[in-house]
Amino acid sequence: MESKVVSKPAASMTVGNKTIELPVFGGSVGPDVVDIRKLYSDAGVFTDDPGFTSTASCESQITYIDGDEGVLLYRGYPIDQLAEHSTFVEVCHLLLYGELPNAKQLADFTRTITMHTMLHAQFDRFFEGFRRDAHPMAVMVGTVGALSAFYPDSTDINDPRQREIASHRMIAKMPTIAARAHKYTIGQPFISPRNELDYASNFVRMMFGVPAEDYKVNPVLARAIDVFLILHADHEQNASTNTVRSAGSSGANPFACIAAGIACLWGPAHGGANEEALNMLKEIGTVDRIPEYVQGVKDRQYRLMGFGHRVYKNYDPRAKVMQTTCHEVLAEVGHGDDPLLKVAMELEKIALNDPYFVERKLYPNVDFYSGITLRALGFPPEMFTVLFALARTVGWIAQWKEMIEDPSQKISRPRQLYTGSAQRDYAPIQTRG
Ligand code: CMC
Repeated sequence: MESKVVSKPAASMTVGNKTIELPVFGGSVGPDVVDIRKLYSDAGVFTDDPGFTSTASCESQITYIDGDEGVLLYRGYPIDQLAEHSTFVEVCHLLLYGELPNAKQLADFTRTITMHTMLHAQFDRFFEGFRRDAHPMAVMVGTVGALSAFYPDSTDINDPRQREIASHRMIAKMPTIAARAHKYTIGQPFISPRNELDYASNFVRMMFGVPAEDYKVNPVLARAIDVFLILHADHEQNASTNTVRSAGSSGANPFACIAAGIACLWGPAHGGANEEALNMLKEIGTVDRIPEYVQGVKDRQYRLMGFGHRVYKNYDPRAKVMQTTCHEVLAEVGHGDDPLLKVAMELEKIALNDPYFVERKLYPNVDFYSGITLRALGFPPEMFTVLFALARTVGWIAQWKEMIEDPSQKISRPRQLYTGSAQRDYAPIQTRG
C-alpha cells in the first residue's frame, strides 16, 4: 500500500539534552501523522497514549471519519448517499475491493455470497452445546471461531485466493449463524437460507420464519435491515477493528480474528450500546421523568447511553439516517406513537441544548435510534449487538485483508510505562509477613 507523502517539514522533539527530527506524513485528507518509529532507538523514550487517542495504528484506504464535521466516507463515498442509493452487498464489494461494482461484477459477487450461505451440517451441533439462555453474542464468539475448523481450505493467510474465499464465507454465513443463535434460544427449528432472496430478506426469513408456513418478507422492514447493515459496515480503527488487526498481526487465521472482533464488540461502550440505550429509554419510561434522569447523568451516577463518541464531536452522520429509518419502520409496523420514541426525541432535544452535553460535545450516536428501530423490527434486545457484528464483519475483513497486504505490517506489540516493583529477590514463605 504505502502511499503516504513525506514531503511535509519534519517535526522536532527535545528529550533531555537531545533533539531529534521526526518525519511527518500527510494522507489524502485528514490530520498529518508524526512518525515516531525511531523515537526509542534515537531518544530512548516511548510515547504514552493509552486508548490511542492521538495515535494512528496503521495506514488505511478504507474508511474516513471527520469527527468534528460529522463526516463518514467508505472508500470516499458519504454514508448518507450509500444508505440512500446502495445495498449492503454492493457496499461489501466496495469495502472489500475498493470500488463500487459494475452490473456484472455485482451479479457475480451477489451470486458468490449467496452460494456460501449454508453451513456445514455438523456445524449445527455446536449450538446444542450452549445453554438455551446463552447470550447470542457468546454463541457468536464461539461458533465463528469454530469456522476455522470447518473450512481449513481457507485459512492460509499467505494465499490471496484463500483470503478471498474466507472473506466470502464469513460475509455469507454470518446471517445464518446469527439467526440460528436466536432460534436456538427460543427453541424453534433452524431455517435454511433461500437463494432467491436478497441478503437482508434472507436473514429476516431465517430469523422470523418457521417451517410450518411460508414466510413473506416485508420489503420495508428488509430495507431497514439493509440500511442498518450499511451504516454499521465499517468505522475505521474502532476498538473491535483494532482487535481484529491486532489478532491478525500475529498471523492468526481470519475466522479466529473475526471471533476476537466479536468479543470486543460485545462490550457496552462499543456494540452493546444500542441494547443499553433501549434499556435506558425503558427505564426513563415517560417524558416527564427525563429531567430527573438527566440530572443523574450530570451527577455522574451513569452515562447517557447512545450519546458521545470518541471520534464524533458533532452529530454522528449515521444517527441522522437511523432516525429517518426509525420513523419509517415505526410507521410501517403501526407504532408511530411508540412512547419510547417520544422519550428519545424529547431526550435528544433536551440534551442538545443542555450546557453539560454541549460543552463536552456529546451528540446522539447511531445507537441512540437503532435500539428502538430493531425492537420495532421484532429483534429481542440481546440480538442487537449480533446485528452489529453481522454488519461489521465485512469491515473487519476488509481491514484485516488490508493489513495482511501491507508490506510495512508488523506484529502489534505496544510498549508500556512500568510502575511496578523493580527487581527484588525471591523470599521464602516463612519469611513473608
Ligand atoms: N453521558 C454522559 N457523559 C458522557 C458521555 C455520556 N454518554 N460520554 C462522555 N461523557 C463525558 C465524560 O464523563 C467526560 O466528562 P468529563 O471530561 O467532565 O470527565 C467527557 O464526556 C469525555 O468522556 P470520555 O469518556 O473521555 O470520552 P471517550 O471518547 O473515552 O468515550 C464513549 C466515548 C463512546 C465510550 C462515551 O461517550 C460513552 O460511554 N458513551 C455511551 C456509550 C455509547 O453510546 N457508546 C456507543 C458508541 S457509538 C457505536 C460504536 O462505535 O461502537
